[in-house]
Order: sequence, then structure tokens, then C-alpha cells
Amino acid sequence: MFQAEPNKMIDIFNNFYKGKKVLVTGHTGFKGSWLSIWLHELGAEVVGVGLEPYSEKDNFVLSDIGKKIMADIRADIRDGEKMKEIFAEFRPEIVFHLAAQPLVRLSYEIPVDTYQTNVMGTINIMEAIRATDSVKVGVMITTDKCYDNKEQLRGYKEDDPFGGYDPYSSSKGACEIAIQSWRRSFFNPEDYGKKHHVSLASVRAGNVIGGGDWAKDRIIPDCIRALEAGKPIDIRSPKAVRPWEHVLEPLSGYMLLAQKMWEYPTEYCEGWNFGPEQESVLTVWEVASAMIKNFGYGELKDVSDPNALHEANLLMLDITKAKMRLGWKSRLDALQTIDLVADWYKRYQNDDVYSICVNEIESFIR
Ligand SMILES: NC(=O)c1ccc[n+]([C@@H]2O[C@H](COP(=O)([O-])OP(=O)(O)OC[C@H]3O[C@@H](n4cnc5c(N)ncnc54)[C@H](O)[C@@H]3O)[C@@H](O)[C@H]2O)c1
Repeated sequence: MFQAEPNKMIDIFNNFYKGKKVLVTGHTGFKGSWLSIWLHELGAEVVGVGLEPYSEKDNFVLSDIGKKIMADIRADIRDGEKMKEIFAEFRPEIVFHLAAQPLVRLSYEIPVDTYQTNVMGTINIMEAIRATDSVKVGVMITTDKCYDNKEQLRGYKEDDPFGGYDPYSSSKGACEIAIQSWRRSFFNPEDYGKKHHVSLASVRAGNVIGGGDWAKDRIIPDCIRALEAGKPIDIRSPKAVRPWEHVLEPLSGYMLLAQKMWEYPTEYCEGWNFGPEQESVLTVWEVASAMIKNFGYGELKDVSDPNALHEANLLMLDITKAKMRLGWKSRLDALQTIDLVADWYKRYQNDDVYSICVNEIESFIR
């Protein structure tokens, strides 16, 4: 029988995850691989559900986390019956749903696939939760882009209207509406303990950066590809402002929220923002400049195109609610964030990547 390794790292969740069965969708991706590593280190029995990793250099592949967790499953979340079968077989207690088509520009090329994966995939996961009586907590990952973007100067609050211009953003706005509907219809806090035993929340992070992300048209992978090739870094939207945060920041929020939901199932089942402090809200140009400074070489090239596909210029999140009610806070300032991001990319070719990730989680916690 599978035995989770004893936990070794400082546990900021007070042993909560030890021995818990946790299903992570999208574990082969950037954020999912980090979440799986952290949960595994805390002694959770992790079941991962996702597609094949995108490349040999992904954090999932290099860290070899798929071989360490309880089950590493390749399955498509668009297949609702398959999801129910997996849930019935493994009977998870906590679900983190991250699997998605997460790229804005790609969503203009494959809008139907983007909607099928993001909206119907999320509904399939909620239906699998509904069909499996072991699940107590469901944390559904959407995005800061789920809000109707008015290019406003204040950060979006949890009760601002959903929307989205491009297919990706609007698909995540649609996910939020579906999650709200499933919570009202099937996982209503008023019916908790009588008709169901599920606490369901949605979470919205900012622009997440960290080691092992190689996605197309994201600024950090673009920087690393150019630096490794000795080419200038093309910057498409130099003035676009985003809430940048290290991957471990929102993951710490998702994990803290799930713990609170487990302990108080009717008090936290709602939407939550997990963004950075105001000082980490930088332009794309500023982030790329900080990467160059950190590496000590490289140059930037402004390739902005007035006819480019629409992408939001200004996007910020208001994180007061998570700070006040969960006691969550973002731990790293902008400079520390860039340092930690650069650390992985400087070391991945020579060092053991699983150890790099564990070291980074430990230094993040400290
Ligand atoms: N990276 C960011 O900046 C960011 C910011 C906010 C929210 N998010 C959200 O966080 C989640 C994870 O993002 P990421 O950056 O790690 O993305 P990623 O592209 O690195 O990973 C996506 C994961 O989803 C899986 N997946 C995609 N389609 C699937 C399907 N049809 N069936 C099963 N699995 C499928 C992939 O295999 C992969 O494991 C997404 O929901 C994304 O929208 C990301």
C-alpha cells in the first residue's frame, strides 16, 4: 500500500495535510506541480489528474513528483464520466481544481477548446465531487481575469461583477458563475449536514511566476528562453500592469483556505482573492528589467504592436478580505519574488530539481 513519506519541512498548516487524501487536477502543469510537491512534503496522499506535461523541462518532469505521489493519472477533465470513475476509485477528501487552458493569446486561437476545458471541465469536477461522498472541501482555481475589467485604478474585490473580454478571461468568469450556481443549488451552506457535506470555494490569483513554467507568451519563460539563447527579450506589452506574485504565495492561500473550510465548512465557502501587495504591481517592462538585473546580462526589446489582440492593460486585486478573515498575507516583496523565481532557472540544469523546489518552499516559509 502507498505510504506518504514522513513530513520533514516546517509545517505552517500544523499537520493538517498529513494523511489527508488530496486530489489535484492539473498536477502536471506549473502551479499544480508545485502544489503537489508541497502537499507531498507535508505527508498528504496526493492523487494527480492531468494531461501529459508540455515539455521535458517542466517542473513536473524534472522534479519527478509524478513518481512520488500516490497516483499520477492522465485523464481529460472534459470526460465527465471518467472524472466520476477516478473520484469513486480514490475517494479524495480535498480537491484542488487547477486544470485549465490558462493562456489568453492561445484562447483567441482555440476559443471552443478553452471553453470546453475551463467551463465544462470545472462543471465535470463539481459533478464528480457531488457524486463522491468522501469529498469535504473543493477549492476551484479561477483567476484575477474573471472580473469584468474596467481598467480601473483600484483593485478588484471579491463581489465585483464577473466578465472577461477574451475567451480565456470570459471562460473563467463563466466558471465563477457556474461555481456560484453549484454552491447555491447543490452545496448550499444552509443545507450543510442535511443534504450534503461539501464546502466549495473559488480562488483568484494574480500573475503567478516561479520556476519551471515554460508557457508561451508569459513574461518569465519569455525572458529565460531569450537569455538562454543569447537574444534580446521581446516585450509585447511593456506598459501592461499586473499583480505579480511567486507561485508559493497563492498556493499558501489555497492551502490555508482549504484547512479553514475543513474546520468551518459553512464560513469560508465563497470567492477569495490571493494577490500581491500594492508594491508588487509592476509593469511587464519592470519585471523583465528586474530579471535581467538579477541574471547580470540580457537586453529588452519593445515589440509592442498597436494592432495586437486585446489584452487588459491594468489589473489589480484587492486582498483585504483574505488578510482580514483568513490571516493570510503575501510573504515576499517584489525583489525577493524575482530572486526566488530566478533561483530555479539558474539551477535547474545542474541541481536536483525536487530539492530546489523543497529548498525554495523552505526559504519561502521562513
Ligand atoms: N499561471 C498564472 O499566472 C495563473 C494566474 C491565475 C490563475 N491561474 C490558473 O491556475 C491554474 C493553473 O495554471 P498553470 O499556470 O499552472 O497552467 P499550466 O498550463 O501550467 O497547467 C495546466 C494544467 O491543466 C492540465 N490540463 C489542461 N487541459 C486539461 C484537460 N482537458 N484535462 C485534464 N487536464 C488538463 C494540464 O495538463 C496541466 O496539468 C489554471 O486554472 C489557471 O487558469 C494561473
